[in-house]
Amino acid sequence: RSKAKITAIGSYVPSKVLRNADLEMMMDTSDEWIVQRTGIRERRIAAKDEFSSHMCIGAIDDLLTNYDVSIMDVDMILVATYTPDFPTPSVACLIQQHYGIPATGALDVNAACTGFVYAMNLANGLITSGLHQKILVVGADTASKIMDYSDRTSCILFGDGAGVVLMERTEDTGAFATQYFGSDGHGGSYLYRSGLRKELSGNKLASNGMLVQNGREVYRFAVGTVPQVIRSILDQVRWSADEIDWFVPHSANLRIVESISKKIGIPMSRTLHSMEYYGNTTAASIPLALSMGVKSGQVKAGDRLLLLVGFGGGFTFGGVIVEW
Ligand code: ACO
Repeated sequence: RSKAKITAIGSYVPSKVLRNADLEMMMDTSDEWIVQRTGIRERRIAAKDEFSSHMCIGAIDDLLTNYDVSIMDVDMILVATYTPDFPTPSVACLIQQHYGIPATGALDVNAACTGFVYAMNLANGLITSGLHQKILVVGADTASKIMDYSDRTSCILFGDGAGVVLMERTEDTGAFATQYFGSDGHGGSYLYRSGLRKELSGNKLASNGMLVQNGREVYRFAVGTVPQVIRSILDQVRWSADEIDWFVPHSANLRIVESISKKIGIPMSRTLHSMEYYGNTTAASIPLALSMGVKSGQVKAGDRLLLLVGFGGGFTFGGVIVEW
Protein backbone atom coordinates (compact mmCIF):
# COMPACT_ATOMS: atom_id res chain seq x y z
CA ARG A 1 0.00 0.00 0.00
CA SER A 2 1.23 3.52 -0.82
CA LYS A 3 2.43 5.75 1.93
CA ALA A 4 3.03 9.50 2.08
CA LYS A 5 6.47 10.94 2.71
CA ILE A 6 7.85 14.45 3.24
CA THR A 7 10.40 15.06 0.47
CA ALA A 8 11.18 18.78 0.85
CA ILE A 9 10.60 21.64 3.28
CA GLY A 10 10.81 25.44 3.20
CA SER A 11 9.94 28.51 5.24
CA TYR A 12 9.64 32.27 5.06
CA VAL A 13 9.33 35.17 7.51
CA PRO A 14 8.87 38.87 6.69
CA SER A 15 11.88 41.12 7.14
CA LYS A 16 10.33 43.60 9.60
CA VAL A 17 11.25 42.72 13.20
CA LEU A 18 9.04 43.75 16.14
CA ARG A 19 11.11 43.43 19.33
CA ASN A 20 9.82 43.44 22.90
CA ALA A 21 11.57 46.81 23.26
CA ASP A 22 9.39 48.15 20.40
CA LEU A 23 6.27 46.92 22.22
CA GLU A 24 7.46 48.72 25.36
CA MET A 25 7.19 51.97 23.37
CA MET A 26 3.67 51.12 22.17
CA MET A 27 2.01 49.92 25.41
CA ASP A 28 2.43 49.35 29.13
CA THR A 29 4.55 46.19 29.05
CA SER A 30 8.16 45.11 29.52
CA ASP A 31 10.66 42.81 27.89
CA GLU A 32 11.04 41.04 31.24
CA TRP A 33 7.28 40.34 31.57
CA ILE A 34 6.98 39.06 28.01
CA VAL A 35 10.07 36.82 28.17
CA GLN A 36 9.13 35.41 31.57
CA ARG A 37 5.49 34.65 30.63
CA THR A 38 5.97 33.59 27.00
CA GLY A 39 9.65 33.06 26.09
CA ILE A 40 9.14 35.39 23.11
CA ARG A 41 11.84 38.02 22.37
CA GLU A 42 10.78 39.24 18.94
CA ARG A 43 8.40 38.48 16.07
CA ARG A 44 8.18 39.32 12.35
CA ILE A 45 5.47 41.54 10.92
CA ALA A 46 4.30 41.47 7.29
CA ALA A 47 4.61 44.65 5.23
CA LYS A 48 1.43 46.62 4.51
CA ASP A 49 1.05 45.04 1.07
CA GLU A 50 2.25 41.56 2.12
CA PHE A 51 -0.42 38.93 2.75
CA SER A 52 -0.59 35.20 3.51
CA SER A 53 -0.32 34.22 -0.18
CA HIS A 54 2.91 36.22 -0.56
CA MET A 55 4.42 34.51 2.47
CA CYS A 56 3.36 31.08 1.13
CA ILE A 57 5.14 31.88 -2.13
CA GLY A 58 8.21 32.96 -0.12
CA ALA A 59 8.23 29.59 1.67
CA ILE A 60 7.72 27.61 -1.56
CA ASP A 61 10.53 29.54 -3.28
CA ASP A 62 12.76 28.66 -0.31
CA LEU A 63 11.84 24.98 -0.74
CA LEU A 64 12.58 25.13 -4.48
CA THR A 65 15.95 26.79 -3.80
CA ASN A 66 17.08 24.08 -1.37
CA TYR A 67 15.69 20.88 -2.97
CA ASP A 68 15.95 19.47 -6.48
CA VAL A 69 12.20 18.98 -6.91
CA SER A 70 9.52 20.21 -9.29
CA ILE A 71 6.10 21.42 -8.17
CA MET A 72 4.60 21.61 -11.67
CA ASP A 73 3.16 18.08 -11.27
CA VAL A 74 1.64 18.77 -7.86
CA ASP A 75 -1.96 17.48 -7.91
CA MET A 76 -3.25 19.20 -4.76
CA ILE A 77 -2.39 22.40 -2.88
CA LEU A 78 -3.56 22.58 0.73
CA VAL A 79 -3.05 25.83 2.64
CA ALA A 80 -3.66 26.04 6.38
CA THR A 81 -4.53 29.61 7.31
CA TYR A 82 -7.09 31.55 9.29
CA THR A 83 -5.91 34.83 7.77
CA PRO A 84 -6.41 34.27 4.03
CA ASP A 85 -5.96 37.24 1.67
CA PHE A 86 -9.67 36.86 0.80
CA PRO A 87 -12.55 34.66 2.02
CA THR A 88 -12.59 33.64 -1.66
CA PRO A 89 -10.57 33.01 -3.84
CA SER A 90 -8.52 30.76 -1.61
CA VAL A 91 -4.83 31.28 -0.92
CA ALA A 92 -4.29 27.85 -2.52
CA CYS A 93 -5.75 29.18 -5.80
CA LEU A 94 -3.46 32.23 -5.64
CA ILE A 95 -0.49 29.86 -5.33
CA GLN A 96 -1.74 27.76 -8.28
CA GLN A 97 -1.98 30.90 -10.39
CA HIS A 98 1.42 32.25 -9.33
CA TYR A 99 3.32 29.11 -10.36
CA GLY A 100 0.96 28.13 -13.22
CA ILE A 101 0.59 24.59 -11.87
CA PRO A 102 -1.53 23.01 -14.62
CA ALA A 103 -3.57 20.22 -13.02
CA THR A 104 -4.16 20.59 -9.32
CA GLY A 105 -6.89 20.91 -6.74
CA ALA A 106 -6.56 23.90 -4.43
CA LEU A 107 -8.10 24.25 -0.99
CA ASP A 108 -7.65 26.33 2.18
CA VAL A 109 -8.04 24.59 5.55
CA ASN A 110 -8.99 26.58 8.67
CA ALA A 111 -8.13 24.93 11.96
CA ALA A 112 -6.26 27.95 13.42
CA CYS A 113 -3.02 26.86 15.11
CA THR A 114 -3.77 23.19 14.35
CA GLY A 115 -4.24 23.95 10.65
CA PHE A 116 -0.90 22.70 9.40
CA VAL A 117 -1.21 19.32 11.13
CA TYR A 118 -4.80 19.00 9.91
CA ALA A 119 -3.67 19.77 6.34
CA MET A 120 -0.82 17.22 6.57
CA ASN A 121 -3.25 14.60 7.80
CA LEU A 122 -5.62 15.36 4.92
CA ALA A 123 -2.72 15.10 2.45
CA ASN A 124 -1.75 11.77 3.98
CA GLY A 125 -5.31 10.49 3.46
CA LEU A 126 -5.42 11.69 -0.16
CA ILE A 127 -2.10 10.01 -0.96
CA THR A 128 -2.65 6.72 0.89
CA SER A 129 -6.09 6.39 -0.74
CA GLY A 130 -4.21 6.21 -4.06
CA LEU A 131 -6.03 9.22 -5.53
CA HIS A 132 -3.18 11.75 -5.27
CA GLN A 133 0.57 11.59 -5.81
CA LYS A 134 2.16 14.87 -4.84
CA ILE A 135 0.78 17.55 -2.53
CA LEU A 136 2.02 20.95 -1.38
CA VAL A 137 1.04 21.50 2.25
CA VAL A 138 1.52 25.10 3.36
CA GLY A 139 0.87 26.84 6.70
CA ALA A 140 0.79 30.65 6.71
CA ASP A 141 -0.71 33.40 8.83
CA THR A 142 -0.52 37.17 8.95
CA ALA A 143 -1.95 37.53 12.45
CA SER A 144 -0.59 41.09 12.57
CA LYS A 145 -3.36 42.13 10.15
CA ILE A 146 -6.07 41.21 12.69
CA MET A 147 -4.21 42.12 15.87
CA ASP A 148 -5.52 44.64 18.34
CA TYR A 149 -2.29 46.33 19.44
CA SER A 150 -4.11 47.89 22.38
CA ASP A 151 -4.74 44.40 23.85
CA ARG A 152 -1.45 43.75 25.59
CA THR A 153 -2.30 40.21 26.71
CA SER A 154 -2.68 39.02 23.10
CA CYS A 155 -0.64 41.17 20.74
CA ILE A 156 2.67 40.35 22.44
CA LEU A 157 2.28 36.71 21.41
CA PHE A 158 1.78 36.73 17.67
CA GLY A 159 4.02 37.05 14.62
CA ASP A 160 3.72 36.39 10.88
CA GLY A 161 5.33 33.61 8.85
CA ALA A 162 4.90 30.63 6.53
CA GLY A 163 6.19 27.09 6.16
CA VAL A 164 5.68 24.37 3.58
CA VAL A 165 6.33 20.68 3.02
CA LEU A 166 6.07 18.67 -0.18
CA MET A 167 4.41 15.31 0.43
CA GLU A 168 4.79 12.51 -2.09
CA ARG A 169 3.63 8.95 -2.58
CA THR A 170 6.25 6.36 -1.64
CA GLU A 171 6.52 2.60 -1.35
CA ASP A 172 9.57 2.99 0.94
CA THR A 173 9.86 3.14 4.63
CA GLY A 174 10.07 6.67 5.95
CA ALA A 175 6.50 7.83 5.93
CA PHE A 176 3.51 8.77 8.06
CA ALA A 177 3.17 6.27 10.88
CA THR A 178 -0.03 7.54 12.47
CA GLN A 179 -2.25 10.61 12.71
CA TYR A 180 -4.91 12.12 14.95
CA PHE A 181 -7.64 14.78 14.54
CA GLY A 182 -9.55 16.30 17.48
CA SER A 183 -11.85 19.20 18.35
CA ASP A 184 -13.89 20.70 21.17
CA GLY A 185 -16.29 23.40 19.99
CA HIS A 186 -17.03 24.42 23.58
CA GLY A 187 -13.77 26.38 23.45
CA GLY A 188 -14.92 28.50 20.50
CA SER A 189 -15.52 31.76 22.32
CA TYR A 190 -12.16 31.63 24.14
CA LEU A 191 -10.27 32.42 20.92
CA TYR A 192 -12.09 34.02 18.01
CA ARG A 193 -12.32 36.69 15.41
CA SER A 194 -15.85 37.91 14.87
CA GLY A 195 -17.35 37.30 11.45
CA LEU A 196 -20.84 37.62 10.07
CA ARG A 197 -22.24 36.46 13.41
CA LYS A 198 -21.71 38.57 16.49
CA GLU A 199 -22.65 36.02 19.18
CA LEU A 200 -21.49 32.52 20.03
CA SER A 201 -22.82 30.06 22.61
CA GLY A 202 -24.95 32.86 24.07
CA ASN A 203 -21.93 35.18 24.43
CA LYS A 204 -21.89 38.55 22.71
CA LEU A 205 -18.66 38.77 20.70
CA ALA A 206 -16.42 41.79 20.30
CA SER A 207 -17.19 42.88 16.76
CA ASN A 208 -14.13 44.86 15.76
CA GLY A 209 -12.81 42.12 13.46
CA MET A 210 -9.68 41.68 15.59
CA LEU A 211 -8.46 38.54 17.33
CA VAL A 212 -9.85 38.10 20.84
CA GLN A 213 -8.61 35.54 23.33
CA ASN A 214 -9.12 34.51 26.92
CA GLY A 215 -5.47 33.72 27.64
CA ARG A 216 -6.10 31.79 30.86
CA GLU A 217 -8.68 29.47 29.28
CA VAL A 218 -6.43 28.88 26.26
CA TYR A 219 -3.54 28.09 28.61
CA ARG A 220 -5.68 25.66 30.62
CA PHE A 221 -6.83 23.88 27.45
CA ALA A 222 -3.32 23.62 26.05
CA VAL A 223 -1.63 22.18 29.14
CA GLY A 224 -4.61 19.98 30.05
CA THR A 225 -5.78 18.47 26.76
CA VAL A 226 -2.63 18.32 24.66
CA PRO A 227 -0.63 15.84 26.82
CA GLN A 228 -3.65 13.47 26.71
CA VAL A 229 -3.78 13.81 22.92
CA ILE A 230 -0.09 12.96 22.68
CA ARG A 231 -0.54 9.84 24.83
CA SER A 232 -3.34 8.71 22.48
CA ILE A 233 -1.10 9.25 19.45
CA LEU A 234 1.78 7.27 21.00
CA ASP A 235 -0.62 4.51 22.08
CA GLN A 236 -1.86 4.11 18.49
CA VAL A 237 1.61 2.99 17.40
CA ARG A 238 2.68 1.52 20.78
CA TRP A 239 5.77 3.70 20.92
CA SER A 240 7.08 5.44 24.00
CA ALA A 241 8.06 9.10 24.25
CA ASP A 242 11.71 7.92 24.52
CA GLU A 243 11.58 6.69 20.93
CA ILE A 244 10.65 10.11 19.50
CA ASP A 245 13.73 11.87 18.10
CA TRP A 246 12.10 15.29 17.74
CA PHE A 247 8.92 16.67 19.26
CA VAL A 248 7.59 19.66 17.28
CA PRO A 249 4.59 21.17 19.10
CA HIS A 250 2.79 24.31 17.99
CA SER A 251 4.87 27.25 19.27
CA ALA A 252 2.08 28.90 21.30
CA ASN A 253 4.38 30.12 24.02
CA LEU A 254 7.35 28.66 25.86
CA ARG A 255 5.56 28.03 29.18
CA ILE A 256 2.92 25.93 27.41
CA VAL A 257 5.52 23.99 25.41
CA GLU A 258 7.68 23.34 28.51
CA SER A 259 4.68 22.13 30.47
CA ILE A 260 3.55 19.75 27.69
CA SER A 261 7.09 18.42 27.13
CA LYS A 262 7.49 17.74 30.84
CA LYS A 263 4.12 15.99 31.14
CA ILE A 264 4.83 13.63 28.23
CA GLY A 265 8.46 13.04 29.20
CA ILE A 266 10.28 14.51 26.19
CA PRO A 267 13.09 16.88 27.24
CA MET A 268 13.35 20.37 25.76
CA SER A 269 16.65 19.25 24.16
CA ARG A 270 14.53 17.08 21.81
CA THR A 271 11.78 19.69 21.36
CA LEU A 272 11.86 22.08 18.40
CA HIS A 273 10.08 25.40 18.59
CA SER A 274 10.13 28.71 16.76
CA MET A 275 8.66 31.16 19.26
CA GLU A 276 11.76 32.87 20.67
CA TYR A 277 12.47 34.93 17.54
CA TYR A 278 9.21 34.52 15.60
CA GLY A 279 6.50 34.45 18.31
CA ASN A 280 3.33 32.42 17.81
CA THR A 281 2.99 32.18 14.02
CA THR A 282 -0.27 30.18 14.20
CA ALA A 283 -0.48 27.71 11.27
CA ALA A 284 3.15 28.37 10.30
CA SER A 285 4.80 27.59 13.63
CA ILE A 286 5.31 23.83 13.15
CA PRO A 287 6.80 23.86 9.61
CA LEU A 288 8.83 26.94 10.56
CA ALA A 289 10.38 25.15 13.56
CA LEU A 290 11.01 22.02 11.50
CA SER A 291 12.52 23.96 8.62
CA MET A 292 14.80 25.84 11.03
CA GLY A 293 15.80 22.53 12.64
CA VAL A 294 16.70 21.05 9.25
CA LYS A 295 18.59 24.17 8.09
CA SER A 296 20.60 24.41 11.32
CA GLY A 297 21.55 20.72 11.11
CA GLN A 298 19.74 19.88 14.39
CA VAL A 299 17.44 17.46 12.55
CA LYS A 300 19.69 14.93 10.85
CA ALA A 301 19.15 12.18 8.30
CA GLY A 302 19.56 9.50 10.99
CA ASP A 303 16.75 10.94 13.13
CA ARG A 304 13.88 8.55 12.66
CA LEU A 305 10.70 9.68 14.37
CA LEU A 306 9.13 13.13 14.47
CA LEU A 307 6.04 13.90 16.54
CA LEU A 308 4.21 17.03 15.29
CA VAL A 309 1.35 18.30 17.46
CA GLY A 310 -0.95 21.28 16.87
CA PHE A 311 -3.55 22.88 19.15
CA GLY A 312 -5.51 26.09 18.99
CA GLY A 313 -8.70 27.94 18.10
CA GLY A 314 -11.91 25.99 17.76
CA PHE A 315 -10.68 24.41 19.99
CA THR A 316 -8.85 22.06 17.65
CA PHE A 317 -6.00 19.66 18.27
CA GLY A 318 -4.21 17.03 16.26
CA GLY A 319 -0.96 15.32 15.63
CA VAL A 320 1.08 13.06 13.44
CA ILE A 321 4.10 10.80 13.81
CA VAL A 322 6.33 10.94 10.76
CA GLU A 323 9.07 8.43 10.04
CA TRP A 324 11.66 10.83 8.70
N1 ACO B 1 2.68 43.23 29.94
C1 ACO B 1 2.62 43.49 31.27
N2 ACO B 1 1.62 43.08 32.05
C2 ACO B 1 0.63 42.39 31.46
C3 ACO B 1 0.62 42.09 30.09
C4 ACO B 1 1.70 42.55 29.32
N3 ACO B 1 1.80 42.32 28.00
N4 ACO B 1 -0.48 41.39 29.80
C5 ACO B 1 -1.16 41.25 30.95
N5 ACO B 1 -0.50 41.85 31.95
C6 ACO B 1 -0.87 41.92 33.35
C7 ACO B 1 -2.35 41.78 33.58
O1 ACO B 1 -3.03 43.00 33.43
C8 ACO B 1 -2.38 41.30 35.01
O2 ACO B 1 -2.24 42.37 35.86
P1 ACO B 1 -3.09 42.45 37.25
O3 ACO B 1 -2.64 41.25 38.03
O4 ACO B 1 -2.68 43.75 37.82
O5 ACO B 1 -4.52 42.37 36.82
C9 ACO B 1 -1.13 40.44 35.12
O6 ACO B 1 -0.27 40.86 34.05
C10 ACO B 1 -1.41 38.97 35.00
O7 ACO B 1 -2.30 38.78 33.89
P2 ACO B 1 -2.78 37.38 33.46
O8 ACO B 1 -3.71 37.50 32.31
O9 ACO B 1 -3.22 36.61 34.67
O10 ACO B 1 -1.40 36.80 32.96
P3 ACO B 1 -1.04 35.32 32.71
O11 ACO B 1 -0.03 34.89 33.69
O12 ACO B 1 -2.26 34.47 32.53
O13 ACO B 1 -0.33 35.46 31.31
C11 ACO B 1 -0.74 35.01 29.00
C12 ACO B 1 -1.04 35.93 30.16
C13 ACO B 1 0.73 35.07 28.69
C14 ACO B 1 -1.54 35.48 27.80
C15 ACO B 1 -1.16 33.59 29.45
O14 ACO B 1 -2.49 33.54 29.86
C16 ACO B 1 -0.96 32.59 28.36
O15 ACO B 1 0.14 32.21 28.07
N6 ACO B 1 -2.09 32.11 27.73
C17 ACO B 1 -2.04 31.27 26.61
C18 ACO B 1 -2.27 32.14 25.43
C19 ACO B 1 -1.67 31.59 24.18
O16 ACO B 1 -0.63 31.00 24.14
N7 ACO B 1 -2.37 31.87 23.11
C20 ACO B 1 -1.86 31.55 21.88
C21 ACO B 1 -2.93 31.50 20.90
S1 ACO B 1 -3.76 30.06 21.00
C22 ACO B 1 -2.73 28.91 20.61
O17 ACO B 1 -1.78 29.14 19.95
C23 ACO B 1 -3.09 27.62 21.16
